[in-house]
Amino acid sequence: MPSTWVRESIHRIERDFQRSADTHLIAVDLPGMPQVQLYLKDESTHPTGSLKHRLARSLFLYCLCNGWIKEGTTIVEASSGSTAVSEAYFARMLGLPFIAVMPRGTSPAKVALIEFYGGQCHYVDNPGEVYSEAARLAHARGGHYMDQFTYAERATDWRGNNNIAESIFDQMRSEAHAEPRWVVVGAGTGGTSATIGRYIRYNRGATELCVVDPERSVFLDYYRTRDASVTAEGGSDVEGIGRPRVEPSFEPGVVDRMIRVPNAASYAAMRVVESLVGHKYGGSTGTNFCGALELACEMAGRGEQGSIVTLACDGGERYLDTYYNDKWLAANRYDIAPHVARLTAACATGRWTPA
Ligand SMILES: Cc1ncc(COP(=O)(O)O)c(C=O)c1O
Repeated sequence: MPSTWVRESIHRIERDFQRSADTHLIAVDLPGMPQVQLYLKDESTHPTGSLKHRLARSLFLYCLCNGWIKEGTTIVEASSGSTAVSEAYFARMLGLPFIAVMPRGTSPAKVALIEFYGGQCHYVDNPGEVYSEAARLAHARGGHYMDQFTYAERATDWRGNNNIAESIFDQMRSEAHAEPRWVVVGAGTGGTSATIGRYIRYNRGATELCVVDPERSVFLDYYRTRDASVTAEGGSDVEGIGRPRVEPSFEPGVVDRMIRVPNAASYAAMRVVESLVGHKYGGSTGTNFCGALELACEMAGRGEQGSIVTLACDGGERYLDTYYNDKWLAANRYDIAPHVARLTAACATGRWTPA
């Protein structure tokens, strides 16, 4: 029999969910391609500012119902930031200590948010060490390692229950092209793409799933070769997506296509998206937009009508010191000008110029 604390904790999370509204689906007109309607699922409007709010809620419920979290349990997570921000929020709600293990250099804005929700940040120099360090810390504290990379695909109900796919398809139902031709997302844990891919197949939809991958990430190579031992050096430099190892929650079997996106193009796309919708979003949103725009141009080139949905994963205010900072771009040798021109021309003409 679960304790009163466990039952009350589940109820507290459900009450918080009841108080929350779903995120918006924004229609984005592409002047050069009136026959292709693009939509941006704005996950930055969650209480903790990113798509990871859904995952954090699912992970806490999963661990409470598995008996892995009890009153006073210290929660530890390996995260580039967004998941840690959302988990710190739920840990505080349940009165639990929270430690986030992350690469040194994670955006100061995210560190401040984790600390705002009462979390503690623990740094590693090598991004590849976040997993072992988080497991070591949890063990040393008698706590629980949430391990989003392993459990993201398991903790999320891919058949429904207001997962991100159900929310998208529900919000699309009155649109001219209610069944999207493509859904385009990136992968960090792979949980979002696994959820959307499974949902489409479970509902026997015709929509195809495209996953975009930044530089220094293994997912595209793994998708092509299915060699799970492939690794990559250093971080992807697009926070939240791209991984140095194949993550257990990434499910290549539900992916119909993958596209590699240069980092400079992702940062350029952040500015193009801002010019189209008037809001700043993060790097992974730029990566998503590049993939969606390339597919839109292909459809326009074939004279195909239809819709494409992609994600705005988190807000741009977290990256004012990095991707939106010209000094940071120059210091990291990212020249975005040719990509801004290329992507803006594609929006205006429907013709795609490869990077
Ligand atoms: C900003 C951002 N975008 C995209 C993703 C990728 O989502 P997933 O882990 O579900 O693959 C993450 C994951 O951490 C993220 O933080």
